[in-house]
Amino acid sequence: MPAITATAPGKVILFGEHAVVYGRPAIAAPVQQVQARAVIAAAPLRPAGEVLIDAPDIGLHSLLSELANIHPLAIAMRGVMDELGLERLPACDVRITSTIPLAAGLGSGAAISVALIRALAQFLGHPLPDERVSALAFEVEKLYHGTPSGIDNTVVTYNCPVYFVKDQVLETIQPLAPFDLAIGDTGVKSPTALTVGDLRRLWQVDKRTYEAIFDEVAEITQLARQAIESGHPEHLGTLMDANQACLERMGVSSPDLERLIAAARLAGAAGAKLSGGGRGGNMIALVGATSAQVVAKALVENGAQRVILTTVRKSF
Ligand code: MEV
Repeated sequence: MPAITATAPGKVILFGEHAVVYGRPAIAAPVQQVQARAVIAAAPLRPAGEVLIDAPDIGLHSLLSELANIHPLAIAMRGVMDELGLERLPACDVRITSTIPLAAGLGSGAAISVALIRALAQFLGHPLPDERVSALAFEVEKLYHGTPSGIDNTVVTYNCPVYFVKDQVLETIQPLAPFDLAIGDTGVKSPTALTVGDLRRLWQVDKRTYEAIFDEVAEITQLARQAIESGHPEHLGTLMDANQACLERMGVSSPDLERLIAAARLAGAAGAKLSGGGRGGNMIALVGATSAQVVAKALVENGAQRVILTTVRKSF
C-alpha cells in the first residue's frame, strides 16, 4: 500500500484577530509558501496498533501509545479514530514535517492538525469532508489557544480567503483584484494561548473599554471586506494601520513588531499591522509590484528573521 500524504498551508489574519474571539468578524487568507505535511505508511511487519510518530521539527520520535493524552498529535489522531469508530489503528509510521514557523502567528498548529487528520482518515480508507476535518482540528486548537475562535483551523482547512464569524456559517471571500503582502517574522516565539489569555484577563476587568475596541475592529473588518470584494485593495493599507492601532490598545503588539511595521511603512508599504496572536511572530504589510522588494529589504535590515512575499487572490 503506497504512503498517504496530506498537506495544509500556513495562514495570515488580514483583519480582526483577537476581536474574533469575542464574536466580531475577521478575514484570513492561506499562505501557500509555507506548508505542513503528514505522510503515513503502513508497517505490516509490526504488531497491530503500533504507531510510530516522527516529527523532527519538534524533536519528537515516539509511539502514539507513549504520548500524553493531551498531546496535540494524540488528540488529532484519537479524534479521527473516534470519528470512524475505531479502537485501534493498523501499525504504521507517521511522519510530520512543516515549514511553517512555530508560535509565530502563521497557523502552524492548525496546519499540522489538518494535514495529520486528513492523511490519517485517508490512510484508513475514509477521507473526511472539510467540515469534519476543520471540526476535529478545532478540538486540538482548544488545547493550543484556550478559547480559540476557530478561524485558524477554518482557513487552513478550506484553503481560501475567508470572512469568519465564530459559530456562524462560513463565508469565503473572492478578491476581485489580487493584492500582495510582505510577511515579516520578528523571530520572537509567542504562543497564541498567552496573548489570548492576557487579553481575556484585561477584558474581564474592563469590558466596556475592550468591547468598544472590538467594535472598532469589526467596522474596519467590514470595510476591508468591501474593499477586497469590490476590487479596491488600495484601501486596505489605511485599514491595516487602523487595525494595528486597535491591536496596540489591546496590548498585544510589541516593540519588535512595531519596528518592522514602521520600517515597512517607511519603505513604501501602503499599511501594515501585526498578524495573529501578536507580541512576537509575524506582521504583514500591503505592498505593490514596485514596493515589494524594497519593503522586504527594509524588513530584513530591521531584524526580520524571514520575509515571505505572497499574493491574496481568488480561489478556483
Ligand atoms: C490567531 O491566529 C487569531 C486569534 O484571534 C486567536 C483566535 O482567533 O483563536 C488571536
